[in-house]
Amino acid sequence: MTTVLLTGATGYIGSHTWLALQEAGFSVVGLDNFSNSSPEVLKRLHELSGVAPVFERASITDAAAMEAVFSRHRIDAVVHFAASKAVGESGAQPLAYYANNIGGLVTTCEAMRRHGVKTMVFSSSATVYGDPKYLPYDEAHPLSAMNVYGRTKLYGEQILRDLEASDPAWKIAWLRYFNPVGAHESGRIGEDPRGVPNNLMPYVTQVAVGRREFLQVFGGDYDTVDGTGVRDYLHVVDLAEGHVAALRHLLDQRRSLTVNLGAGHGHSVLQLVRAFERASGRPVPYRIVDRRPGDLPAFWADATLARQQLGWQTRRDLETMCADSWRWQQANPNGFDC
Ligand code: WQD
Repeated sequence: MTTVLLTGATGYIGSHTWLALQEAGFSVVGLDNFSNSSPEVLKRLHELSGVAPVFERASITDAAAMEAVFSRHRIDAVVHFAASKAVGESGAQPLAYYANNIGGLVTTCEAMRRHGVKTMVFSSSATVYGDPKYLPYDEAHPLSAMNVYGRTKLYGEQILRDLEASDPAWKIAWLRYFNPVGAHESGRIGEDPRGVPNNLMPYVTQVAVGRREFLQVFGGDYDTVDGTGVRDYLHVVDLAEGHVAALRHLLDQRRSLTVNLGAGHGHSVLQLVRAFERASGRPVPYRIVDRRPGDLPAFWADATLARQQLGWQTRRDLETMCADSWRWQQANPNGFDC
């Protein structure tokens, strides 16, 4: 059985990918330092999978701990999620972001190399495309980053390209995510940001469940269908299944690839709010306020390559994303802090 080390395993995307990998027949070793996730996730994963999670509490920046993990487990491949991801915070704390996202990536790759593990799925982001030169973004779109978080993803991609160029035995999948939302259909795991949510969907669900008074819509005067920002939302379980497809591609084809994981179309903030109100039956009061600095008006993926190379495309629509997000939030009003 192929064993996969999942870094950032108890995070939002990591926990959903853990389940998808197990359902696909992989054995999983989860690793996390709980800096942005809860140990409660492990209990939920045990309940959902029926398998006691194999878990290591460690930081990817701790070389001794990473060495110990690779010594204790026979790892065949790594899916690397562990990273700090708050755009605003990254600008205020650049050293912490470079130390964790870049330093942690290098430390992880060094441990992999010492143990002859040269297969990695890397969690990248559409943020590496920067200001759109054209839309939809395809994988050939020029790369640039508009914030420190985005630069850690851009530089992280380049580090892995240099690594592969130095030793072609490395097989790497660079996965550029668009906007993941939704939750496992059970409602037992989902997105649980700490503090005030930066992202749209968790803010919407917290308004609907009564934790927040109203949603601030950042800008109503963009050149879009209704003046509000447009993004390519995809269901987190579709995204998780995209990781399984990418890992299988690396293991079977022995060939690296860079691919967008998105739906291939966009929805505006107000279109998502309306879909959520329909799916939940709950009102989401909002106020249109000033634009958020750094926001792009609209972007979405050209999702052709993932379909061609991985046979993967999104299968869950916006209504399902909203219904699943609501089921999670309604059952867990305070997230994992039960
Ligand atoms: C979506 C839309 C906002 C909150 C960010 C990161 C990106 C990735 C996903 C990690 C925009 C609007 C939001 C709110 C709002 N993260 N909005 N009110 O900015 O597209 O991407 O998260 O990889 O790297 O940049 O996602 O959910 O923050 O915003 O009106 O309270 O919702 O203006 O149009 P974004 P988002």
